[in-house]
Amino acid sequence: MSRFGDAPLEFFNSVYRDIPPWDIGGPQPAMSDLLTMYPPMNPILDVGCGSGDLSIHLAQLGHQVVGIDFVDTAIAHAQEKIGSLPSEVASLLNFQVADALEPSLLQRKFGSVVDSGFFHLFDPDQCDRYIEELALTLLPGGRYYLHAFAIEFPIPNAPRQVNADELRARFTPEKGWHIHEIRSVEFLSRVAPPVPAVSACIERLPANRALQRRVYP
Ligand SMILES: C[S@@+](CC[C@H](N)C(=O)[O-])C[C@H]1O[C@@H](n2cnc3c(N)ncnc32)[C@H](O)[C@@H]1O
Repeated sequence: MSRFGDAPLEFFNSVYRDIPPWDIGGPQPAMSDLLTMYPPMNPILDVGCGSGDLSIHLAQLGHQVVGIDFVDTAIAHAQEKIGSLPSEVASLLNFQVADALEPSLLQRKFGSVVDSGFFHLFDPDQCDRYIEELALTLLPGGRYYLHAFAIEFPIPNAPRQVNADELRARFTPEKGWHIHEIRSVEFLSRVAPPVPAVSACIERLPANRALQRRVYP
């Protein structure tokens, strides 16, 4: 069972009947700062894209973006927003209903995966499988951008705490990852004060470099 009960889609469908608390009308500032510091490679996959503001921000910067979410309403809102964008920005965007825990099913490789508030929805065992999927989805040298809660709230249907130690233990050179940076930041909400968060830029090493690091540490 997930952190959001045995029917997580029903839970998220119900949240999208109103404006969700995470829908702040633009990308999370900590995520856009991270992307400025470590420019992404195209094409970009936005996992759990919600109503699409981060994808749109990236397309406005000239990036080619695929945004996926499993909630139809979220994707419909994202697609509506495309309608009011200049055609050169709109043409860079594609929103689809899909399970972001299995991005390999898209049967496409991406230069970057942006994850704003997705990883922290899942228990550690689900994250193990998700990270394997990320490895299949990213091109060699591609980057994974993460923004997650760094605090645990003792209430049901809440994200979990993610911290730097967990990220360092999961994204090791032996497993083919290089962490550029982990930052202590904030996660903004439409309805509550900012909460402590963590952001990270993590690179997928080309296979031969991962091997070299394993053999010659
Ligand atoms: C905390 S919200 C973040 C939305 C957006 N990234 C943002 O920063 O505003 C998490 C999103 O993940 C989506 N989600 C949860 N589980 C999913 C899954 N298995 N596949 C695709 N989307 C999922 C939810 O519908 C929701 O839109």
